[in-house]
Amino acid sequence: MTQTLLVLGSANADLVVEVGRRPGGGETVLGGDTVVLPGGKGANTAVAAARVGASVALVGALGDDGYGSLLRESLESSGVDTALVKTSARPTGIAYITVTPDGENSIVVSPGANSDVAPSDVDGLAFEGARVLTCSLEVPLETVVHAIGAASQAGVRTVLNLSPVADLPAETLRQLTVLVVNEHEAAQLARDWTGLLALGPASAVVTLGSRGVAVVERSGVVEVPAVEVAEVVDTTGAGDAFAGALSARLADGDDLVRAAEYAVKVAALSVTKAGAQPSYPTAEEIG
Ligand code: RIB
Ligand code: NA
Repeated sequence: MTQTLLVLGSANADLVVEVGRRPGGGETVLGGDTVVLPGGKGANTAVAAARVGASVALVGALGDDGYGSLLRESLESSGVDTALVKTSARPTGIAYITVTPDGENSIVVSPGANSDVAPSDVDGLAFEGARVLTCSLEVPLETVVHAIGAASQAGVRTVLNLSPVADLPAETLRQLTVLVVNEHEAAQLARDWTGLLALGPASAVVTLGSRGVAVVERSGVVEVPAVEVAEVVDTTGAGDAFAGALSARLADGDDLVRAAEYAVKVAALSVTKAGAQPSYPTAEEIG
């Protein structure tokens, strides 16, 4: 394993449809043509990191089906090492995504193969060479808990994008170098941002959407403003873009505030284009 960044998480086929508004219960609305795009929080994070130059491997699972091949190819063409992405007997994960004209999305995820990412898949990992392990939670919680424990024992820094939100063991929280949460998740976890550190992580980043992010360290809170964009087209995967770019910069030796400043730019550019992975910028585009 020569990658400096390991990402553990999901890979999904995103089936995206534009709608004027979302249907309520029992209601039908007509949308645009379905577009199939590579997605999943883990794959998105890995691709965002690779685009900005990180050497990254994804630990995950795909089904033995058409979507699985599509996702593996798209990971590889973005430069993500897929040797640790296993083929499972279950179908490839699918995310059903509706996007409204304001660029907002709502998502139903059918995890499929992602549910098969197991603690034993992590046991084989030699962490030598790795500087950062980044996890998100569309794979089983016990696997994430196991991976963070193993990485922290190996002296590898750990980043957890607590999305979707879940109850973490106290020990896992203490093993985290960086906890990444959005405002709503932060409010579920603690009364204020500095309260997040009382839960155990060495630091936290609270993402504030169009207002940027707050970097929470023992020394204090630094607010990193968002980069303004002309038009928000699609916010799908903007949080994953942020987590991926942040992890890439941390693996490259940046401190957390600098890494967050860079990652905010990556996330901003990602919302100006449709989809998750197809919208992620390269280092050249960020300048
Ligand atoms: O965070 C965005 C991602 O969430 C989408 O790509 C979709 O696959 C869901 O996992
Ligand atoms: Na986008």
